[in-house]
Amino acid sequence: MDAMLVTGGAGFIGSNFVRYTLKHHPETQVVVLDALTYAGNLANIDDCAGTDRFRFVQGDIRDRDTVDDAMRGVDTVVNFAAESHVDRSILDPSSFIETNYNGVYVLLEAARHLEVKRFLQVSTDEVYGHVPAGFSVESDAFAPRSPYAASKAAADLLVQSYFTTYGMPVLITRGGNTVGPYQYPEKVLPLFITNALEYKPLPVYGDGSAVRSYLYVEDHCSAIDRVLRSGEAGNAYNVGTNREVNGRDLAARILEILDRPAGLREFVPDRSGHDLRYALDCGRIQALGWRPSLDFDALLDRTVRWYVDHPQWWREIRNESGFRSYYKKQYDERYQT
Ligand code: NAD
Ligand code: TYD
Repeated sequence: MDAMLVTGGAGFIGSNFVRYTLKHHPETQVVVLDALTYAGNLANIDDCAGTDRFRFVQGDIRDRDTVDDAMRGVDTVVNFAAESHVDRSILDPSSFIETNYNGVYVLLEAARHLEVKRFLQVSTDEVYGHVPAGFSVESDAFAPRSPYAASKAAADLLVQSYFTTYGMPVLITRGGNTVGPYQYPEKVLPLFITNALEYKPLPVYGDGSAVRSYLYVEDHCSAIDRVLRSGEAGNAYNVGTNREVNGRDLAARILEILDRPAGLREFVPDRSGHDLRYALDCGRIQALGWRPSLDFDALLDRTVRWYVDHPQWWREIRNESGFRSYYKKQYDERYQT
């Protein structure tokens, strides 16, 4: 039986990855280490708690003793733990630098001393900055534009340096905009869906022309799994799809699917430094045999359906005082500038 440490496993993609691993790899034991920040939620993994192949540890990746304890006896580390929302990084970058960079340093040091066999850092397409034309390949120079993206880019460089300097068997995945069950309703798709369900306006930033290509979370998980098992140590792998959808159309589609008034789409002041386009060349991971299983229409339908079917999950989050005060702070600042 092999053992895997999944940091940030109570968050959106991490919890889906834990479920994916328990299902597809019955020989694998999973330890989740998660600080349970505002974005971490035990409800995301409560169905995993029933198996003796799963163990949860509440703790911070910045704390070396906690990390050493959780990592001891583990073959593989997959790091999802991060502050993940660009708008929050604009309001206050401090926790982004702390967790996304310093936390990764602590994980790398622990993994190096414990001689972990595989260390996979879950990164993002945002490290390349926005791409007005063409497609980013893994060897492109980094040009991050938000504190979130810069903290992730810095971590990628540190992870790569552990390969070059210490020969550590590291891997990096750079995923695109991921959607699906258990995504905290601050990211655009779950925010738009849950606002529409409550007949609240859908706030489209600027003129709504910025585009994103959406990836279903299970496809993101299967890509990470593929890279873990067949990727070449020291390499980074882009993970994404190529159907570009702008904010204007995304809001309109959701209102249409949920049969809500088109007038709920509302244009609001733009995000500062808004990246207008990300676009990934995924040839390298395709060469490992990975393909996404859902196209945009299918992933949108499936995601909308999950939020319709799980009102208790998102209503609990949206009723928390922290959720409401975050929105108040964000829009107070945005309308002032
Ligand atoms: P999320 O915000 O939903 O979850 C992050 C998790 O990390 C939470 O459970 C949180 O409690 C935990 N965490 C935060 N700080 C921690 C700390 N100091 N110690 C331990 N745990 C801590 O994020 P997500 O959307 O699931 O993203 C997971 C990873 O994937 C991140 O590294 C992110 O950069 C990357 N990524 C996300 C997307 C996306 O579209 N969501 C796309 C590409 C890459
Ligand atoms: P988001 O989900 O925050 O992801 P990213 O990190 O890629 O920016 O936003 C996706 C896109 O949706 C991005 O172009 C910003 C836009 N957006 C809105 O128009 N309104 C919103 O309320 C949010 C959160 C995002």
